[in-house]
Amino acid sequence: MTSDTATEVTDDMFDIMKSASRKDDVFGIDPSVNELEHHVAKLFGHEASLFCASGSMTNQLGLRTLLTQPPHSVLCDSRSHIYLYECGGLAYHSQAGLTPTLPKNELYLTAEDVQANIVTDDLCGALTKVIALENTLNGTVMPLDELQRIHTFARKQNIKLHLDGARIWNASQATGVALADYGQLFDTISVCVSKGVGAPIGSLVIGSSEIIRKARHLRKLMGGGWRQAGLLAKVAHHCIDTVVPTMPETHRLTKKLATKLEALGMRTLLPVDTNMVFLETAPLSIVELADALHEHNIVISRDEGSVTRLVLHHQIDAKAVDDFIRVASKLVQAKVDAKFSLPPSSKEAVDISKAYPTASVKL
Ligand SMILES: Cc1ncc(COP(=O)(O)O)c(C=O)c1O
Repeated sequence: MTSDTATEVTDDMFDIMKSASRKDDVFGIDPSVNELEHHVAKLFGHEASLFCASGSMTNQLGLRTLLTQPPHSVLCDSRSHIYLYECGGLAYHSQAGLTPTLPKNELYLTAEDVQANIVTDDLCGALTKVIALENTLNGTVMPLDELQRIHTFARKQNIKLHLDGARIWNASQATGVALADYGQLFDTISVCVSKGVGAPIGSLVIGSSEIIRKARHLRKLMGGGWRQAGLLAKVAHHCIDTVVPTMPETHRLTKKLATKLEALGMRTLLPVDTNMVFLETAPLSIVELADALHEHNIVISRDEGSVTRLVLHHQIDAKAVDDFIRVASKLVQAKVDAKFSLPPSSKEAVDISKAYPTASVKL
């Protein structure tokens, strides 16, 4: 449960790879890649898309196509992937500044956050040319009406919009909002198939034909042109069609896990909208929980302290969730027994949540 990137390639996937075409995608002539790109562009209501190696690459390509003339800057959530985890790529690839913005509601950016933080000083500032949103971010869904408000504001200001939609599939499955309804609000969209979608490798950047033509050129510049990529495209296509519809079940299991852990006195620090739980594990430490879970083949991040992130995906089943709950219950019960000096076999019921009221740690 460390990440939804930790899905395993199945034998079925290897079989599907065998049926892929084997032409050269650098020249755009591989049918399996072209079919995937066409399929994904259509899903999001855009003209074209480009299959690439990673979400970092598709974010950087999308943003680079929108950023033409420095000095310029991008406004984004201060917890976003493009700000924290892409090696300062915006400065490197696009010569762009960043305006990392913490949402006032601590969940997602609003039109008011954007309005208050864009750079409009055209003498001393680097004007905001792009607003980059991430949906989901930390598993939290951005409401469609807020996205629409930001879109309206951005259009009035002549600012472009990019979406890091690595997990937009989860948002769409959780809310019922069609991918195309999200798609129409953005100039460029990056989506990943290597996260909850379960494919081994790959992401796509989506936009107009003109933008994607530029992105293809820039991908080559970055050394990202790949030759016989058909086998990866074929698996990605299969996973989009078969794994994405299973996400509501993954979300249901995630909520069940969160609810049961809360009943043990643990605290969830963000809404559990999709497949992630940000968990304060007190009264347990992460290490003692991780050690006990390991015996049941369940792996969680072994962070120090007592705040961790659990991430579910389609290869984590109901039994694993039940095992997790059982292991955690046993450990917490042992703490309660020790605290009240009860012999392990005592039947005396102690209210766990009263014994360990939730602590007040902020994320
Ligand atoms: C929200 C988000 N965007 C982009 C990426 C980048 O994807 P990749 O690891 O394929 O570069 C990640 C990776 O975890 C992510 O979580």
